[in-house]
Amino acid sequence: MLDGSGTIQSTTLTLRKPTREDGEAIWQLIRACKPLDENSMYCNLVQCDHFADTCVIAETPEQGVVGWVSGHMVPSDPDTIFVWQVAVSPDARGMGLGGKMLSHLINREHTKHVTRMQTTITLDNDASWALFKRFTSRMGGELTHEPHFKRNDHFGGHHDTEHMVTIQLRETGVRKAA
Ligand SMILES: CC(C)(COP(=O)(O)OP(=O)(O)OC[C@H]1O[C@@H](n2cnc3c(N)ncnc32)[C@H](O)[C@@H]1OP(=O)(O)O)[C@@H](O)C(=O)NCCC(=O)NCCS
Repeated sequence: MLDGSGTIQSTTLTLRKPTREDGEAIWQLIRACKPLDENSMYCNLVQCDHFADTCVIAETPEQGVVGWVSGHMVPSDPDTIFVWQVAVSPDARGMGLGGKMLSHLINREHTKHVTRMQTTITLDNDASWALFKRFTSRMGGELTHEPHFKRNDHFGGHHDTEHMVTIQLRETGVRKAA
């Protein structure tokens, strides 16, 4: 997709719903995208199988899977989509792919009614904060956050506190493109 000078070689980036056949490639991509938590391959297969409507795969003919977003509708709030993980292959970063996948995610038949996006981010993940702040300003929304899954209360000291980020989206129906 990128040559040494950062030029996009592929003209055919595809964003689509995952299928079971994508599970292993997603698992490999997540392993290459520190600091993401690695899940079991089985977890990724269930996401592809049961949550395909709220997950996004990005692929090119040359490189296969270069991007992934996993998400689900919040069971107690049908207007809110929760984004679990966003992963962009190291050599495809900085070209807006993360933002493109988030926009794609909320423009589907299944999701275009949502008024909120949520995700959790640790305070030290600069790239993730930048991605969601940029997405918020592009969509014309408002971003708030507060500690949610806490280091000692919930992770037993094994993981930094995850802040729940809530993006109140101003636009529903036809969304701004990426
Ligand atoms: C976070 C991640 C998905 C961003 O993907 P991406 O396609 O490179 O993001 P974009 O190109 O859409 O960039 C969005 C914004 O983030 C900024 N950004 C990207 N990487 C950054 C970094 N390391 N530090 C600070 N800002 C960064 C970009 O400059 C851009 O802002 P701008 O448009 O104002 O310039 C990617 O870096 C990644 O996979 N990281 C590892 C896994 C991870 O941490 N995932 C997020 C947690 S769920």
